[in-house]
Amino acid sequence: MLTLKEAKKIIDELKEEIEKHNYQYYVLDNPVISDVEYDKLMRKLIELETEFPELVTPDSPSQRVGGKPLAGFNTYTHRTPLLSLGNVFGKEELFDFHRRVRSGLGVDSVEYVVEPKIDGLSVALYYENGIFNIGATRGDGITGEDVTQNLKTIGNVPLRLKESFPALDVRGEAYMPKESFKRLNAAREKKGEMLFANPRNAAAGSIRQLDPKIAASRDLRVIVYAIMYADGVTITKHSEALELLKKQGFSVTQPFISSDINEIAEYCAKWADKRHDLPYEIDGLVIKVNSIEQQEQLGHTSKSPRWAVAYKFPAEQGVTKLLDIFVRVGRTGVVTPNAILEPIRLAGTTVSRATLHNEDFIKEKDIRIGDYVVVEKAGEIIPEVVRVLKEKRTGREIPFGMPEYCPECNSRIVRLEGEAASRCIDITCPAIVREGIIHFASRNAMNIEGLGEAIITQFFEQGLIKDAADLYYLDFDRIVNLERMGPKSAQNLLNAIEESKNRGLENLIFALGIRLVGQRAAKILAQEFKSMDRLSKATIDELISIPEIGPKMAESILTFFNEKKNLDFIERLKKAGVKMEMEEKLPTSEKLHGKTFVITGSLEGFSRKVAQGKIEDLGGKVSSSVSKKTDYVVVGTDPGSKYDKAKELGVTILNEKEFAALLEG
Ligand code: IVH
Repeated sequence: MLTLKEAKKIIDELKEEIEKHNYQYYVLDNPVISDVEYDKLMRKLIELETEFPELVTPDSPSQRVGGKPLAGFNTYTHRTPLLSLGNVFGKEELFDFHRRVRSGLGVDSVEYVVEPKIDGLSVALYYENGIFNIGATRGDGITGEDVTQNLKTIGNVPLRLKESFPALDVRGEAYMPKESFKRLNAAREKKGEMLFANPRNAAAGSIRQLDPKIAASRDLRVIVYAIMYADGVTITKHSEALELLKKQGFSVTQPFISSDINEIAEYCAKWADKRHDLPYEIDGLVIKVNSIEQQEQLGHTSKSPRWAVAYKFPAEQGVTKLLDIFVRVGRTGVVTPNAILEPIRLAGTTVSRATLHNEDFIKEKDIRIGDYVVVEKAGEIIPEVVRVLKEKRTGREIPFGMPEYCPECNSRIVRLEGEAASRCIDITCPAIVREGIIHFASRNAMNIEGLGEAIITQFFEQGLIKDAADLYYLDFDRIVNLERMGPKSAQNLLNAIEESKNRGLENLIFALGIRLVGQRAAKILAQEFKSMDRLSKATIDELISIPEIGPKMAESILTFFNEKKNLDFIERLKKAGVKMEMEEKLPTSEKLHGKTFVITGSLEGFSRKVAQGKIEDLGGKVSSSVSKKTDYVVVGTDPGSKYDKAKELGVTILNEKEFAALLEG
């Protein structure tokens, strides 16, 4: 039997050895031992850690295998917001960017760093004293989801840095290599599971899983591209930051550094083709001003830095046959023509549909059924028909006319003066109602997991639901026998519906689908009115007085709540137990709310900055001098006169341990 000390020694050695192999495999792509040998080391570590659980540390490679599933993700407020990037297409726009940078700095020459823009999902990695502490998704840029457990499973994310900086905030992109994506989809196809549309979706889908075992089973990687904050190092250039990150064990890409904008433009153009040789997908290049001082001088707009820009590759195009055109009635009654295409591979996905927008679009391009068309797809954007290859016409192509009657409810389709859209204006139209329910259940609305389009359509067609409120009155016996349902999925679905009752006011307002009220407006309205009841009684003046709520939106909100049918709908949601009030969620994240701290002496476990950051994260304030208003004085070693002052005034004194305990809660 080993003593604790002996076990610790072996565990430490194993940890180091395993991490060395992780680095060889994931970062250097050069494994030096076989998988079997690696597994042996890992098993030994886990065995020892099971025997001595007190020796398990957060940086142990055993933590990468994925622990218990979470009930839900916690949100995480980023220390600095995650910005996005402005785009440039082609050389001319790149030169414009260069002109803006030069005039902003008042200089003639600027050094840039060019890097691939990895097409994945952005993540923030926070290290404290050299240990990976928190990893979060971008979210809305301000707050993301805490996905630490999942990021820990990614082999090339160092759990411990080579040097233990008190604090290091790193930004990067999580992605799935192209090959791994293909393998994953092939395996899913075999099992009859839904396929991921592209590697980005697969990566995002894996990282947003509550069960870390799923993320652990997928081949994910992170490449880092920025240090947002570093305590204990001074960085003067972005290229130095990349060097430093590499030295700490991260995967970074090889930067191209140049002050010659023509050379940069050539480099960018070359990559439009070369990108296919990379093992991961990129959707452009990022051009960044190298000097950090100059970056700071240029600053950023509310959305993106002025010192960096994304050079986007031209959209991929292909030629295919347009087989048919059908129309779809959306949530707002707009009737959109869509093209059915002979499937074609474009920008990494198979495309078989394209939007044709509206009647004028089809007329202008003279699109006919049976035509050969050029389709284009750029990243996220829905594929578009760019033009018709008229030279390929045989004479058998059929011109398309918008239907006069709604294909779903047979009422007349109207096109209002000055509008491009044709609409079905019968609000009882099943398509409008069905689309409204789909919106209600969707991710950013009530987020009812497992309730997708197919199931909603089925419920709807079977007469089980007439509107979204009916979802909360479904019962097990009636849904269990439906197609593609079974006892387990029926129960899961009911649980998900039940859980959605607590989604919160903001999501509920968005879910209602009030015309013009998007996610952001829903958030503002929730914060302003705090309850559905109050919102429903809001006057036009009250609404207009809120910043960002314009007269048109105010009008639309009023119209919505004037409709008795809508009020009845809300009443039925309320009766079912759907939460209608905004929850003030201070307790966990703001438990030090309003408390003032003074720190004196040096703390072992935290730098001043980190301690201050933690206090502020939890809602407290840090002040430099002790007064009667001070709530706590945190005392480290060699405290100064503040300690005496605190004693004199009778302020609560915390030693480091007590302080840490207070933070932990
Ligand atoms: S820099 C202030 N560099 O692209 C820093 N972003 O539209 C701004 N991305 O979601 C980002 N590769 O996650 C930067 N080498 C790279 C990148 C990169 C991918 C992503 C990033 C962000 C998006 C910006």
